[in-house]
Amino acid sequence: METTITLKRTGAKMPLVGFGLWKVTKETCAATVYNAIKEGYRLFDGASDYGNEKEAGEGIARAIKDGLVKREDVWITSKLWNSYHEKERVLEGCKNSLALWGLEYFDLYLVHFPISIEYIDPKVKFPQEWWGVDGKTVTPIKVPYQETWTEIEKLVDAGLAKNIGMSNAQGSLIHDVMRYARIEPQVLQVELHPYLTQESLITYCKRLNIAITAYSSFGPQSYVEINCDKGAVSLLEHDTVGSIASKNGKTTAQVLLRWALQQGLAVIPKSNNHERLVQNLACTGFELTADEMKTISGLNINLRLNDPVDIHPSFAIFA
Ligand SMILES: NC(=O)c1ccc[n+]([C@@H]2O[C@H](COP(=O)([O-])OP(=O)(O)OC[C@H]3O[C@@H](n4cnc5c(N)ncnc54)[C@H](OP(=O)(O)O)[C@@H]3O)[C@@H](O)[C@H]2O)c1
Repeated sequence: METTITLKRTGAKMPLVGFGLWKVTKETCAATVYNAIKEGYRLFDGASDYGNEKEAGEGIARAIKDGLVKREDVWITSKLWNSYHEKERVLEGCKNSLALWGLEYFDLYLVHFPISIEYIDPKVKFPQEWWGVDGKTVTPIKVPYQETWTEIEKLVDAGLAKNIGMSNAQGSLIHDVMRYARIEPQVLQVELHPYLTQESLITYCKRLNIAITAYSSFGPQSYVEINCDKGAVSLLEHDTVGSIASKNGKTTAQVLLRWALQQGLAVIPKSNNHERLVQNLACTGFELTADEMKTISGLNINLRLNDPVDIHPSFAIFA
């Protein structure tokens, strides 16, 4: 099986299995990234909002210094936070992240959400998150996506991002971007798991040659620790996934990742635990049958766990 997906515009080969950095603690992040590289991970999915880009960069730098990898062997993704969408802020947002990572360029830079909020100086609050300095007020601002995208394209011109893409976007927004993009999005990163299968979005992106990275592959699991799992039955402990896992001699986590990979999607599982991190990377050496794929897809209940409408009613981007 292929271990990378080739992006249309640049021909760059993006690893299909990467490591997600959301909720990787600052204290453990550098060591986790270093050890993940040792185990074979070559893609790291970061974001300004995760607040651990400096530590992740330290892990990369140590791995390069120790000769485990060269810069060009690792794929680093980062994301522009919502408070940097205005045209005069985009470059600043990207440069801040690059400085934290200690990198000259990102392999992939995404617009984190199609939602714009009031700027906050990182010296005052960092990561800025959704809320203002008082920690509770959310202040939306009016920035058209085109304004942000036009600036994101300039990051490619400046050599700061090799590839650019979107995140948390639906078909209608992608359709609009394709009307004006000078540099088309190469990747869409979205929540996608057996409770939220999004078949028509996958079909549309394949038609446009936009690669999809599925996030939160384990569904509710990631949201338990932030009390946002919406009471859903765990996919990792689901009987249906469990019986397919035992039949294949794999764990439920590996089956969930494999289900995404077999649809041509990239995955970025996160783990703060070394054993699970290693286990997640080993999701390529087996094949689910067409029936098993269908059975897993049949679990779909259109359950969206990461929905910004839960932050503010005017952020109903998936309504
Ligand atoms: N673009 C966006 O808006 C967006 C949003 C969400 C996520 N993401 C990206 O996608 C990445 C992955 O998504 P995610 O972090 O939400 O969730 P995830 O990778 O689906 O799940 C992580 C959760 O599963 C547990 N876990 C990991 N491996 C396991 C295994 N083999 N067996 C049992 N439990 C396991 C982890 O616990 P332990 O850590 O204790 O192992 C953690 O609680 C993020 O880290 C981030 O990079 C992007």
